[in-house]
Amino acid sequence: MQLIICEDSQEASLKASEIVIQQLQNNPKTVLGLATGSTPIGLYKNLIDAFKKGKISFKDVVSYNLDEYLGIDRNHKESYYQFMHTHLFNHIDIKEENAHLPSNNLATIEQDIKAYNDALSKTKIDIQILGIGGNGHIGFNEPGTLFENETFAVDLTEQTRLDNLRFFNHIDEVPKRAVTMGVKTILRSKKIILIATGKNKADAIQKMIKGPVTTALPASALQKHPDVVVILDKAAASLL
Ligand code: PGA
Repeated sequence: MQLIICEDSQEASLKASEIVIQQLQNNPKTVLGLATGSTPIGLYKNLIDAFKKGKISFKDVVSYNLDEYLGIDRNHKESYYQFMHTHLFNHIDIKEENAHLPSNNLATIEQDIKAYNDALSKTKIDIQILGIGGNGHIGFNEPGTLFENETFAVDLTEQTRLDNLRFFNHIDEVPKRAVTMGVKTILRSKKIILIATGKNKADAIQKMIKGPVTTALPASALQKHPDVVVILDKAAASLL
């Protein structure tokens, strides 16, 4: 793993965006794996800025998102579909049909997951953006999930639901299930950029880098990938 330790989250977003911008300039037909959560928002702002300045275009870019809640509609303001449109897609020239998110339509979920896996097995993600949960999850691969999983439906842990409570009014509103790319899917990406900022990520980061590869800490699976860039602020790197 290549480690980049930054002064603060702003610098971490800048470093991540430099890598993505260079990739898009080198290959306008890049396939991106995208993440939601607070962490990548700064990266997305920088990408929007670079697009507006004419440095990059997304017109031939294809994207696949890591995960989506189950149990809330796409139109719910906290769905990841809405998140991606608010924080990135609405501000760039990506084609709607090229921007893929896992379906959260309960009526068709089994076929939809299979179709997502089929599409992902026919393509290769050039850069996968990742955050990390306080419990070491990547996407919604919670502790204990098998590394052999491709995209699948998952029950969220209490910690993850509590971590995400800040976006909802009440714990009862936080979805209990989600669809996520599995660890196997994530590891198939050519390059992975994991960004983590803040002290509440320090323990998971320490275990991800220095600990054993174990399903108890899903992010530790990244030790098996040949091209992972870990971009941290000082707080997230404080236990290394
Ligand atoms: P966060 O979430 O960016 O909101 O901290 C990261 C994650 O849970 O993967």
